[in-house]
Amino acid sequence: MDELLRQTSQPSLLAAVTTVHISLLLLRMFRNPPRARYMLLLLPCVALAATPWFFPVPAALILGLVVHVAWFVVVERTVATAPQPAAKPVSTSARRASVPRPSAPQPAPAAPRAAAPGGFVPAPVLAVFQETPDIRTFRLARPEGFDFRAGQFVTVRVNVDGKPVVRCYSISSAPEATGYLEITVKRQGLMSGMLHATVRPGSLLHLKSPAGGFVYPANDDRPVALLGAGVGITPLMSMLRHAVLADPTRPVTLLYSVRTPRDLAFSDELRWFAGRHRHVKIRATVTSGPRPTELLAGRIDRQMVLDQIPDPANTVFLVCGPAAMIEAMTNLLAALGVPRSQVRSEAFEAAVASTQASYAPPPAQQQVALSSAHTIRLTASGRSLPACAGRTLLESCEAAGVDLPAACRAGVCGTCRTRLVSGEVDCQSDLLGEGDRANGFILPCVSVPMGDCALEA
Ligand code: FES
Repeated sequence: MDELLRQTSQPSLLAAVTTVHISLLLLRMFRNPPRARYMLLLLPCVALAATPWFFPVPAALILGLVVHVAWFVVVERTVATAPQPAAKPVSTSARRASVPRPSAPQPAPAAPRAAAPGGFVPAPVLAVFQETPDIRTFRLARPEGFDFRAGQFVTVRVNVDGKPVVRCYSISSAPEATGYLEITVKRQGLMSGMLHATVRPGSLLHLKSPAGGFVYPANDDRPVALLGAGVGITPLMSMLRHAVLADPTRPVTLLYSVRTPRDLAFSDELRWFAGRHRHVKIRATVTSGPRPTELLAGRIDRQMVLDQIPDPANTVFLVCGPAAMIEAMTNLLAALGVPRSQVRSEAFEAAVASTQASYAPPPAQQQVALSSAHTIRLTASGRSLPACAGRTLLESCEAAGVDLPAACRAGVCGTCRTRLVSGEVDCQSDLLGEGDRANGFILPCVSVPMGDCALEA
């Protein structure tokens, strides 16, 4: 100790400690977003860098370093940091780049850093592709740590009229495309319309980590059949791209139904897959208007399935499209003797419709009338609020001004997954596994309280 006390008066030790402080200061400067107001965050760093010369005692030196590191970590976790160096976009097969790129060379887009758990992370748009007259693919720099399985989705947040709006979009690129991530969006509804109208290469979207249980059946060598309609092709496209890269001998059949030939997304790439990969069979069908001879006619039906899929009872089916199509396919496959466990589906459009219908919280004047006798207690924040009769827990919380994390609002994405500490709720979703339910987890967006309850929120 004496030795340390003696050393602290030595300029060389003070200089070494100061160097550590200055390194943290420089690193903070590098990590801060390039905006003037963030310069204020550097003031504590400057002050701490000077402390060794004013308080040259061991306890003060150690305390100064600890405080500086803590400050660095706090700022790192609470402030969006400057983008990291760019990840190179990977070129894909020939698709039409619809939105004209600016003629002047653009700076390389930055690869975003990983999101804080449960948070959103900025992702620059690298390119936009027009797939059909009303479907576009947005290619984004893939954020660090955004590992996903083919078929999953990301949650996208944008500001509309100054208010954050979120929606889930299926990923259409393959997990193997590590430099980018693509979402394919049909122009319908507020948010999708806005993405089409305003998002260009160089725009910034905010993404939350991939999620979802509708995934390519790995570790299984049974043939795969992908049944898609309209923009329901999106997660199936990710699975198909994954299948040709990762499962090159497993038979994969895509049956893809659209209204007219103009509505066929990814048509060049699908044709290329079918020609290049012998284990892949692709058949598209149109439901109205004239069609080229290579396309089938009508909706996917029993005969089409039997013609294209040799052994349905031994095939794993993945179905994505409007809810009515999913219901029809589920019934059809059951009638063909396909075990229910071999049919997986994503009622994504149904979820989106539900999201749009229920997004706005109930108007304030309705809240009193809607209040039931039940109380919702939030254990983390210590708040108690009235449950609104006939409303989900999420809606009741929002009506009371409490924001819970949520995206799809339809029991599809799992974003709102929360533990029920006490009470009973009716949670209408198949998303939660038995383990989750046994541990008390529920989805507040589709849960209605049956009495007083408490949430871990
Ligand atoms: S918000 Fe998606 S499951 Fe609740």
